[in-house]
Amino acid sequence: MQEKGIKQRVKILKILTKGNFVSGQYIADACNISRIAVWKHINHLISKGVKIKTHPNKGYEFISFGNRLIPEIIRLYLGPEKFVKEIVYFDEVDSTNNVAKKILKEGSLIVAEQQKKGKGRSGKIWKSEKYKDILFSLIISPYLPYYYLPIFNIIGALSVALALNKSFKGVKAKVKWPNDVLINGKKISGVLVELFAEVDLIEKLIIGIGVDINSKPKLSNATSLITILKDEKLDRAKLLVQIISELNKLYEMAKRNNLKQIQKIWNKNSLDYKRKVKIVQNGNIITGLSQGIDNCGNLIIRKGRKEISVYPTSSLKII
Ligand code: BTN
Repeated sequence: MQEKGIKQRVKILKILTKGNFVSGQYIADACNISRIAVWKHINHLISKGVKIKTHPNKGYEFISFGNRLIPEIIRLYLGPEKFVKEIVYFDEVDSTNNVAKKILKEGSLIVAEQQKKGKGRSGKIWKSEKYKDILFSLIISPYLPYYYLPIFNIIGALSVALALNKSFKGVKAKVKWPNDVLINGKKISGVLVELFAEVDLIEKLIIGIGVDINSKPKLSNATSLITILKDEKLDRAKLLVQIISELNKLYEMAKRNNLKQIQKIWNKNSLDYKRKVKIVQNGNIITGLSQGIDNCGNLIIRKGRKEISVYPTSSLKII
C-alpha cells in the first residue's frame, strides 16, 4: 500500500520536474487518479520538504527536492534498477539496523534522518545530526558460505569510498580495514554488518552504513563532507543512490565469485596497504606490514617471513 503511494508520487515528481506549470487535471489523467488524490500526494510531498508552489490558474510548479532522504526522491534517482525492492523511511528511529532486523526482507532499504541509538562496531555509539547525514541499512540474502562474511564489510566501506570519489572532484576517500572510510586520514564513514546465518550459509545480512555529510563531527579523528568541501551544496539523496549502485556492483561480483576483483579494488583504494600496521587480536598485539586483504576480506599481515591472516574482529592502527 505504502509502496503504491510512493510509486504514484514518483510519477508525479517526474511530471512536475519536466514542465514549468502542470495542472492537477493533467497529473490526474497521466496517473489515472482523481484530482483530490493528486492534491493529497502533492501535500504529502510538501510536508516532506519538497518545494512545490500552487498557482490558482496555472497549476503546480516544482521548485526543488528539498533536503530529505524520502523514498520518492531515492526511487526517482534509482530509476529502473531492481536491487532495492522496498524503501522504509524514518524521521527518527533508534537504529536502522534494529529496524532491519525486524523486517529481514531481502532488498529492503531502511533510511533514517536521525538515530537515537545508532550503533557502531564493538558496542560503540554512532552519532549523527538530524537531516544532515546519511544513515541506512540494506538487507541482502547472499546464501554464500559463512567464510565470505568479511567480504561484506569490505563491500560496504568500498561502496562509500568509490561513490565519494566518483561524485566529488578532488575528494580522495580511502578505505581502512576492515570497514572504515577516511578522507585526509579522518574517518567519514563506518559500516556495521549484522548476520543471520543458517548452519553454514549466510541467509540474511544487514549492511548498516553511516556517512557524515553536513554535520560537524566533534572528534578530532573524524570529518564530514561539508568540512572538506566547504561551500558546496551536497545532495545526500544522489550520494546515497551512488553508494547503493556501487554496493550493487560489488555484491554482484561477490555472488559471481569474482572475489579477486574486489580484492584488487580494495587494495588500490586502501590506506593501510603496504603500510606498517598494528592490530590487537585475542589480546595479542600483532605488528607487521599490511599486504591488503585476501579474497575473503581478511587482512594479511607480513611479519618477517610469516604471513598472518587476521579476521575482522578488531580495528587496525597504521604506525
Ligand atoms: C562503525 O564504524 O563503528 C560502524 C558505524 C555504522 C553506523 C551505521 S548508521 C546506519 C546503521 N545503523 C546503525 O545503528 N549503525 C549503522
